[in-house]
Amino acid sequence: MPGFVTKPEPVRVPGLVHLHTGKVRDLYRNEAGELVLVATDRISAYDWVLPTEIPDKGRILTRLSLWWFDQLADLVPGHLVSTDVPEGAPADWEGRVMVAHALEMIPVEAVARGYLTGSGLKEYERDRTVCGLALPPGLVDGSELPAPIFTPATKAAVGEHDENVSYEEVARQVGAETAAQLRQTTLAVYGRARDVARDRGIILADTKFEFGRKPGADQLILADEVLTPDSSRFWRKDEWEPGRPQKSYDKQVLRDWLSSPASGWDRTGDAPPPELPQEVVDATRERYTEAYRLLTGTAWD
Ligand SMILES: Nc1ncnc2c1ncn2[C@@H]1O[C@H](COP(=O)(O)OP(=O)(O)O)[C@@H](O)[C@H]1O
Ligand SMILES: [Mg+2]
Repeated sequence: MPGFVTKPEPVRVPGLVHLHTGKVRDLYRNEAGELVLVATDRISAYDWVLPTEIPDKGRILTRLSLWWFDQLADLVPGHLVSTDVPEGAPADWEGRVMVAHALEMIPVEAVARGYLTGSGLKEYERDRTVCGLALPPGLVDGSELPAPIFTPATKAAVGEHDENVSYEEVARQVGAETAAQLRQTTLAVYGRARDVARDRGIILADTKFEFGRKPGADQLILADEVLTPDSSRFWRKDEWEPGRPQKSYDKQVLRDWLSSPASGWDRTGDAPPPELPQEVVDATRERYTEAYRLLTGTAWD
């Protein structure tokens, strides 16, 4: 059963209630009732959280998320309240914390795709649709779609994969108006982000957003992390070659090593993945700092 090799113990902080240990992030609630999201340096591949961490990954992805929230603020408000480390929390939370409004979450993974790959490609090869949307013939792995599409998924239970659903199914679940709001906002935000990334030599193939609302309010608020390599597929424009699986911007080195004889690991078996060698850790960290630098135009540290 994939998952954690060893599940980390939550950090105990007075005044914070631990809510959840995600693959990569730890979640708490503070005394004001806000959500405290702490990004760790954990990394996952092939459904496993690896036993080795990538130094600074939590801080890099947090800063990237914050940068994106700023870029998108005129399109949709974000959930951020502050980045202050809660009193009594470890100093190494600095730079990895987002204190956020606790929202009523809309239980839909709001995915936008501009390119065909992954679960979208599988459905296309079977039915020539993605989430029930008809697409033209002749598309291959990595093809750019005629226009970006909203391809919602329902959140799966731990250990399961999210399930793609049709727009009509989302409308049944959350109501027609909320479904329309979700689609419109998701595509608007994706379009903005795709253009920003494209100008910097990076293809934003697809990405997943989560939205919520303040109790009683109609306005959608962008929650969770946004447009990080953990929630998005980024490809290098100069390496993009439709017709084959594209190289993952951040995890390629890791995946290549894990599936090579050097790792001694069989990813189709039940055994947990091994510790990563230093050169794989370094090369992977390098990819995160490079993504940060290219996207934001600012060097990391
Ligand atoms: N502002 C918010 N208000 C309420 N819930 C949120 C907010 N932002 C994110 N979440 C929720 O926090 C959780 C974060 O968990 P995550 O670290 O992604 O773990 P997992 O790997 O289980 O998805 C998700 O369930 C997400 O929907
Ligand atoms: Mg999540």
